[in-house]
Amino acid sequence: MTGLYIHIPFCRQKCFYCDFFSQKYDTDLADKYIDTLIKHAKQFENEEINSIYIGGGTPSVLSSNQMQELLQSLNNAFNLSEVKEFTFELNPESVSKKKLLILKEFGVNRLSMGLQSVEDKTLKYLGRIHDFKTFCAAYDTARNEGFDNISLDLIYGLPNQTVDDWESVLKKALLFNSEQLSLYPLSIEKNTPFYENGIVTDDKLQRALYEKTVEVLEHSEYVHYEVSNWAKKCKEAFHNTNYWRNLEYIGLGAGAAGYLERRRYKNVEDIEKYIELCSLLQSTNRRSNLSFLNIEDEYIDNNLYKTETIMLGLRLLNEGIDINCFNNPKHHTILLECLKNKTLQEQTGKIKIAKEYVFISNQIISKFM
Ligand SMILES: C[S@@+](CC[C@H](N)C(=O)[O-])C[C@H]1O[C@@H](n2cnc3c(N)ncnc32)[C@H](O)[C@@H]1O
Ligand code: SF4
Repeated sequence: MTGLYIHIPFCRQKCFYCDFFSQKYDTDLADKYIDTLIKHAKQFENEEINSIYIGGGTPSVLSSNQMQELLQSLNNAFNLSEVKEFTFELNPESVSKKKLLILKEFGVNRLSMGLQSVEDKTLKYLGRIHDFKTFCAAYDTARNEGFDNISLDLIYGLPNQTVDDWESVLKKALLFNSEQLSLYPLSIEKNTPFYENGIVTDDKLQRALYEKTVEVLEHSEYVHYEVSNWAKKCKEAFHNTNYWRNLEYIGLGAGAAGYLERRRYKNVEDIEKYIELCSLLQSTNRRSNLSFLNIEDEYIDNNLYKTETIMLGLRLLNEGIDINCFNNPKHHTILLECLKNKTLQEQTGKIKIAKEYVFISNQIISKFM
């Protein structure tokens, strides 16, 4: 059983903070891209898929016809009877009842919506093209169409945002009663307008905002199950959790990453080039050599596999990772050091990051590199 990730590298407009691979939506190019994705998907048509995630970019920017064509072809190419979770990312401004009905018809059972903030001035500052009212309408339409598993993305730790500002944003976001909240501290990425304009974040402020988040959500229905993710019980993202469990997934599309047969790969980050390269695809077997589509392709040997299993698994705050995974001498020494300084703790054979150190999880995790 594997997961399937499909990348839709189109957005109506680039947000000022974002360096994810995407470019301006163009109908003709998107038509060709969908045809190419379908061709690429056919390489894997005998795979048993247990989760699908269509992300971006902005998958909802596709026209309803394009969405229908993509989803219909996935249904034809794969046996989807074992799919437990099927997520589709939506940006508020490109949601419509018609699109939601198509998603429902083809088995999408989870939506991930980019809210980012509940304040129009902040949305503008981030370069978002939706306002809060548009989000509310999109969210209500999704609920009315019967979607009962919705995750919301928010960004915190913007320059000059106070703890009180963030607390009120978070509390307003909680009123939607979504099944999951993904809360990301703003990071300044190269080649973004924020970076070019010299915007910087403040670690101390971001930490204070993170601590406020934990305080607000501690007595709520939400469980803090991953460094940036809080979900209601049994609503933890299955597809993403499998990434952190270091399990396999197929990555389709320009710029998509995948992990199969101990190879981590990334497809070429160029839509035209991806279309051109995929025109050479012929056989229908994932074991055929697809590396000509990749800009990254790394074999994960046993040592690296163990390191990655630890680094990914520690992100799962409640699940943690089996103590037996630390049997390599280097990892064992670091584990002992971290247990001694109490940044990690052991509970019934599982190693987890101690609650009070989650904010510096990246520093703890990178020690095992
Ligand atoms: C790749 S985006 C795609 C989602 C969708 N297109 C949207 O904008 O809502 C996934 C999420 O990553 C987060 N994100 C992207 N860039 C970020 C950054 N520089 N700092 C913090 N969060 C970021 C945003 O919350 C965003 O919703
Ligand atoms: S945050 Fe989403 S909408 Fe904005 S540029 Fe990135 S992928 Fe596109």
